[in-house]
Amino acid sequence: MSGTTEGRDRVDEQVRQRVRVRVPAKVNAQLAVGGARPDGFHDLANVFLAVGLYDEVTVAPGPAGEGPLITCTGPDSAQVPLDATNLAARAAVALAGRHGIAPDVRIHIAKDIPVAGGMAGGSADGAGALLACDTLWGLATPRDELLAICAGLGSDVPFSLLGGAALGTGRGERLTALPVGGTFHWVFAVAEEGLSTPRVFQEFDRLTGGTEVPAPAAAPALLAALRDGDAPALAKALANDLQRAALTLRPALAKTLATGTAAGALAALATASGPTTAFLTKDGAGAHLVAEALRASGTCRTTRVAAGPAPGAAVLAEPAGEPVS
Ligand code: C5P
Repeated sequence: MSGTTEGRDRVDEQVRQRVRVRVPAKVNAQLAVGGARPDGFHDLANVFLAVGLYDEVTVAPGPAGEGPLITCTGPDSAQVPLDATNLAARAAVALAGRHGIAPDVRIHIAKDIPVAGGMAGGSADGAGALLACDTLWGLATPRDELLAICAGLGSDVPFSLLGGAALGTGRGERLTALPVGGTFHWVFAVAEEGLSTPRVFQEFDRLTGGTEVPAPAAAPALLAALRDGDAPALAKALANDLQRAALTLRPALAKTLATGTAAGALAALATASGPTTAFLTKDGAGAHLVAEALRASGTCRTTRVAAGPAPGAAVLAEPAGEPVS
């Protein structure tokens, strides 16, 4: 018996020395956008689906008085800010502030989610760092408090913690989990350069200026398609109100969308503010064919294939790297 207890203590000790969290990217099956609010945000009906493309956030104790110290690796890491503006640093500071402790932590981001691509990569790092620091510091902050801190960091951050599928209302941060009855297969075409989310919302305001923008609402047909795991029905219902703005700012995306559709995708759309474009396919084999055609066309920088729904932020066991249940 005592051997078991010692073993558990050793594991606890390891957990406190280093915590690794895996966090998924998201695609928006529907992004319905209302008019600009007085606070500068827009009311949304945002149907999120987490997909199996992940960043990993690893935290360990840092030097006293230094605050969060961030490092990042991965193909797009040069574009990731390593200062206090990084959502992972802001998450550590927010959590430490709430508990009255010092945010002295080393945060390493192994970045696999495209940067500034509309797939919530920055939000994933915020949610991942929050969960990782909560575990490292042994705080056991209740889930609804973690979600509230996420909402303070950004509109998409709560969903990165939750994962699966959810309807986001308000500015996207008020979540209702959605049932999903199957696996959906996607290809993502990553563009050469990112698009700024505020810039795309501004363009949406310019394009809709002087018109009545209807209150955003989730489409019943889309929710039914998710629930039934029906890819052809989901393809018909996919919608992104920011797509026109993204295409106005980046007209070349139209060619990428057309290439994926010609290669057999069931549907093609910009992911949220873009410029990553998303293609829903019938199955995994179809996804690889579409990805190949997109790469061969030269209309994107790279492609990624992923399926959803995927689980939300999860602490990984060391060293196997599987989520701890
Ligand atoms: O919440 P987050 O920091 O991700 O938002 C980034 C920017 O995107 C906001 O400053 C705002 O310009 C725009 N935005 C918006 N309406 C939303 C979400 C984001 O206008 N619901």
